[in-house]
Amino acid sequence: MLNIRTIYEGTGAPSSPCLTKILREAYDGELCFSDLPGRPLIVGNFVQTLDGIVSLRIPGKSGGADISGRNEEDAFIMGLLRAYADAVMFGEDTFRNAPGHAWTAGFVCPTFDKEFEAFRKHIGKDSLHPVNVVVSGRGHADLDQPLFRHKEIRSLVLTTEQGAARLHERYGTSLPATIHILPGDTVLNPSDMAALLHADYGVKLLLHEGGPTLFSSFLRQALVDELFLTMAPQIVGRGRTGERPAFSGPLGLAPEQAMWSTLLSVKRAAKSGHLFLRYRL
Ligand SMILES: NC(=O)c1ccc[n+]([C@@H]2O[C@H](COP(=O)([O-])OP(=O)(O)OC[C@H]3O[C@@H](n4cnc5c(N)ncnc54)[C@H](OP(=O)(O)O)[C@@H]3O)[C@@H](O)[C@H]2O)c1
Repeated sequence: MLNIRTIYEGTGAPSSPCLTKILREAYDGELCFSDLPGRPLIVGNFVQTLDGIVSLRIPGKSGGADISGRNEEDAFIMGLLRAYADAVMFGEDTFRNAPGHAWTAGFVCPTFDKEFEAFRKHIGKDSLHPVNVVVSGRGHADLDQPLFRHKEIRSLVLTTEQGAARLHERYGTSLPATIHILPGDTVLNPSDMAALLHADYGVKLLLHEGGPTLFSSFLRQALVDELFLTMAPQIVGRGRTGERPAFSGPLGLAPEQAMWSTLLSVKRAAKSGHLFLRYRL
């Protein structure tokens, strides 16, 4: 049984009624996003430990669920964001560490599957699920993953010329996935990715699910509009060589460049003490 309680709600968040009654009650409040002209609104979602870690970097235990402790309120909020999104984006490493995963609302929070579907219809989405976007500049993405055979999910890979050549070498001329080639040697420009999704797929709300390497390139270009950050009440340490990343990955801003943010809301899981923070960046 979900138990999300709103502790604080600022005045800065759009507040027109969007959610269905059941989702509003489960979220203990409203959730609404405004469209931007010319590009998608980009919303990040991460779960971190109290000491700021988002991946344990232990094979088989490096995903968000190990950080959240499989918290159901966190899964619900992730599902809600996916239900809202036109597309969900993630890097090749996040993709590789989640074999069999589908970036849909119902996959992460099956209890609300039908309600999420109803919500998408209610807000006029023309597809059952958000487009799943794998970013793989060098073309390391595993196209044998079931995601690419899922009939109801539109999925695609964003890559470079070099990455596309690698994929063709591995899978032959007719690839089992839709790929888009964007400029770049091995690394793509976040604004090119956002522009392509906006122009070719009509993406107005892009949910960015990391990981830190990919997310940091969006942060560097100030392309992240909002951040949904779950604080899981555990401490795990950075690891002996500091190998466990924060959501900002390799970013290293000078004090005068620091991205100060506005707190939009704070919610709490009543039993476990997880905190759900929403910021405008
Ligand atoms: N706690 C959480 O909320 C959370 C959320 C997400 C992920 N995670 C965890 O974080 C870890 C993965 O993070 P990560 O930082 O190592 O990897 P990542 O960002 O998921 O993926 C890195 C890979 O994505 C591609 N990539 C990233 N930025 C790119 C760019 N600008 N242009 C082109 N390609 C780009 C590259 O693939 P190619 O090698 O093919 O070029 C790169 O090697 C996993 O353990 C995952 O489970 C945790």
